[in-house]
Amino acid sequence: MAGVTALQALRAAGAVEPGQRVLVNGAAGGVGTFLVQLAKDRAAEVTAVCRQEHRDLIAGLGADRVVDYQREDFTSLGPIFDIVFDVAASRPQRHLSRLLDRRGRCVVVGFSSLRRLAGVALSRRARLLTADNTDPADLAVLGRLVDSGRITPVVERVYPIAEVAQAFEHLESGRPGGNIVVEVDF
Ligand SMILES: NC(=O)c1ccc[n+]([C@@H]2O[C@H](COP(=O)([O-])OP(=O)(O)OC[C@H]3O[C@@H](n4cnc5c(N)ncnc54)[C@H](OP(=O)(O)O)[C@@H]3O)[C@@H](O)[C@H]2O)c1
Repeated sequence: MAGVTALQALRAAGAVEPGQRVLVNGAAGGVGTFLVQLAKDRAAEVTAVCRQEHRDLIAGLGADRVVDYQREDFTSLGPIFDIVFDVAASRPQRHLSRLLDRRGRCVVVGFSSLRRLAGVALSRRARLLTADNTDPADLAVLGRLVDSGRITPVVERVYPIAEVAQAFEHLESGRPGGNIVVEVDF
């Protein structure tokens, strides 16, 4: 789900081209770890926003710059980005707009983040994406990218199905680095 969401967010942004400046807010999560890698696979210059604890993980995925949002106000980096992916919805849209250059655009990945965004008007240059995770064609694209080694899913923890409640608690703590897998025996 996270990978397909990231793939569709990439498409929603239009063509991501070599050398373009891309920022991912929420880079350390399930969707963010895929987005950083997919943008790097397109040879974009990627700035990733996460906590210090996740810095090494995200740098290891190829991010060119990692910003710890607890120490630095990333919305003050200037209007230098072609594309901003907002997966965390941690800052108001008007703050994220400051990051966009004249023709820049923002893709807000929404679902649980919609709760935080409720009532907030998106700027003209922002697009809200709620992904269709049921598309088998996108799963196939993702599978090929993984099989060829161009991207690697980041799995933080694997839970047996009997511990699915704990898996969700961990997920909803908002602190995972990468993805959580629940293993099901058939
Ligand atoms: N079908 C769909 O449309 C679909 C599918 C999957 C996900 N989603 C949505 O996409 C969003 C992200 O999902 P996810 O699975 O990637 O979530 P996640 O794995 O829970 O990751 C959230 C990440 O946000 C980061 N974060 C928390 N507070 C932050 C802050 N103040 N500033 C910046 N980053 C912060 C955390 O990293 P740090 O610890 O480094 O802060 C965490 O790793 C959710 O709204 C989810 O519902 C939608």
